[in-house]
Amino acid sequence: MCGIIGYVGSKQALPVIIEGLQRLEYRGYDSAGIALISPAGNIEVRRAVGKLQNLVTQLQEEPKPLKGSVGMGHTRWATHGKPTELNAHPHRGPQSRVVVVHNGIIENYVQLKQELVQSGYSFNYSSETDTEVIAHLLEKCMLREGDTLEQATIKTLNRLKGTAAIVAISLDDPEKIVAARLSNAGAVVIGYGAEVEHEMFIASDIPAILPHTRRITFLESNEVAVLNTAGVTFFNSKGEVISKEIVTVNIDAISAAKGGYKHFMQKEIYDQPQALSDTLLGRVDLENGNVKLEDFKFSKSDIAAIEKVTLIGCGTSWHAGLVAKFWIESLAGLPCDVDYGSEFRYRDPILTPNHLLVAITQSGETVDTLAGIEEAKLKKAKVVSVVNVVGSQAARVADGVIYMHAGPEIGVASTKAFITSLADLFLLAVYLGRERGKLGADRAQSLLQSLVEIPNLLANTLLENSIYDQISRKFYTAKDFLYLGRGINYPIALEGALKLKELSYIHAEGYPAGELKHGPIALIDEGLPVVAIVVKDGLYDKVVSAVEQVKARDGFVLAIASEGDELIAGKADKVIYIPNTDPLLMPLLTTIPVQLLSYHLAEIRGCDVDQPRNLAKSVTVE
Ligand code: F6R
Repeated sequence: MCGIIGYVGSKQALPVIIEGLQRLEYRGYDSAGIALISPAGNIEVRRAVGKLQNLVTQLQEEPKPLKGSVGMGHTRWATHGKPTELNAHPHRGPQSRVVVVHNGIIENYVQLKQELVQSGYSFNYSSETDTEVIAHLLEKCMLREGDTLEQATIKTLNRLKGTAAIVAISLDDPEKIVAARLSNAGAVVIGYGAEVEHEMFIASDIPAILPHTRRITFLESNEVAVLNTAGVTFFNSKGEVISKEIVTVNIDAISAAKGGYKHFMQKEIYDQPQALSDTLLGRVDLENGNVKLEDFKFSKSDIAAIEKVTLIGCGTSWHAGLVAKFWIESLAGLPCDVDYGSEFRYRDPILTPNHLLVAITQSGETVDTLAGIEEAKLKKAKVVSVVNVVGSQAARVADGVIYMHAGPEIGVASTKAFITSLADLFLLAVYLGRERGKLGADRAQSLLQSLVEIPNLLANTLLENSIYDQISRKFYTAKDFLYLGRGINYPIALEGALKLKELSYIHAEGYPAGELKHGPIALIDEGLPVVAIVVKDGLYDKVVSAVEQVKARDGFVLAIASEGDELIAGKADKVIYIPNTDPLLMPLLTTIPVQLLSYHLAEIRGCDVDQPRNLAKSVTVE
């Protein structure tokens, strides 16, 4: 999500930091900031809202260039708090003697803040971030307890819950930078000076420091690194010195920005287990079978009064809505309909104050979805947005927000935002069901348990599988594909067809398997590949019979089936197996093969995977 860079050495730190931030900007561009220890003995902090260029312009307007050879920078993708200058990193301790940048989420920051306030600290900058508490804790350890910066960092690390990559500098220990990685936070890369001896780098991604070094070490969970011109020392969370290996990386900067993947979309497909874990973080109470939705601000009586739910979205976000309809109806016991943002407002929908409108949008800027929100607000319905981009219009205008926490999605075709919006919508359905007394604690517990297991199952579904390559080689010249699914997996057939169309420009259609015999069966011949989602749920036999109908007409069937299903292997031409889970959660897994298939077909056809023709990442015109 956010990007971090740090430098200590004999050169001026500022150009190194700015160049690093440029390479990290894809991770977030809500705000950017830098901090330097100046030769005059101050910490200079500069921050600007919006893209990095705003900060660069601000720095160019300074009467004299900022100097210092110890410093760090941050580019923010907002999670806690709006994208304002006050919330931009770096954040200072109360006496501005410690400055910190952070990537991740501190789950217990409210409790820590209360403790600090009780021990006499005031939060004078009053940012809305969870990061400020880290700066306060570090400064407290250094000023009140006489700790060095690394001792303070180790103590602080042991107090934090959540995921966090932290980098700190201090006026009271001015020749070093300290970095820490709590739990499974984003990567923290330590770089060893190559061109010039006696310099060290730190970054949240390899490309930020690739122009300077290829010799790196990754910080693991709960480790601390102390960097100065003499090198680096590593500690574990007990404060013991540990040794770590240096690896030499052999990649160019652009491919590193994609984390070694060829395309952003490919990276984003493989990022999905992590994105889903981030989405679930702090929201699932397994013990009591409850869900916490931090920005879903409706009272119990408002929730009890809801009579109907309408889900709106466009493209992939609309498909997420089609899946969620099953969840809202079966878990929350509420009637639910789904509409395209672009259609909804033009049909004069019947809406009342007891109506909940759920707007699903990765960008939060899709004009058709925003217009649907406006229509609902005019008619006094309650509006909640399921959004990825923090502070976007859909988040600002809604009465409540459920963030996707997918991180920046750069590939134009949506992948990890789809999976994380599904997770959000599932959480919403469980939440409504629990609050309205329609869903018992036992069933909720078992569903949530299955949900938290999905990131691992996703990782299994993403393991190397040569079938994608085989199918792509066989069918890359096909003119059409047909995707079949039924029940809760029918929207995944639609999603598969959409992904294939937009990425590879092959025409594709998604159909409910039961409708095959009512028309599309006329299309079947050996030249039309059929992708059938045929998992073990209540409709399994019905989809198997559709597969048989295709085979009887010499069609080619690629089945996406449940692990252990031997019957389907005897019927379909090829099978991609996915792990078993609760049938309600299957769409989170059946999505992966349709994404990978489209990706491979687009690749083999030489299409521009990340920026398919005619498309834009957020559609802000009608
Ligand atoms: C398809 C895709 C689009 C978007 C649609 C809505 O891969 O990315 O169909 O899903 O344009 O965008 P958001 O979710 O930003 O409103």
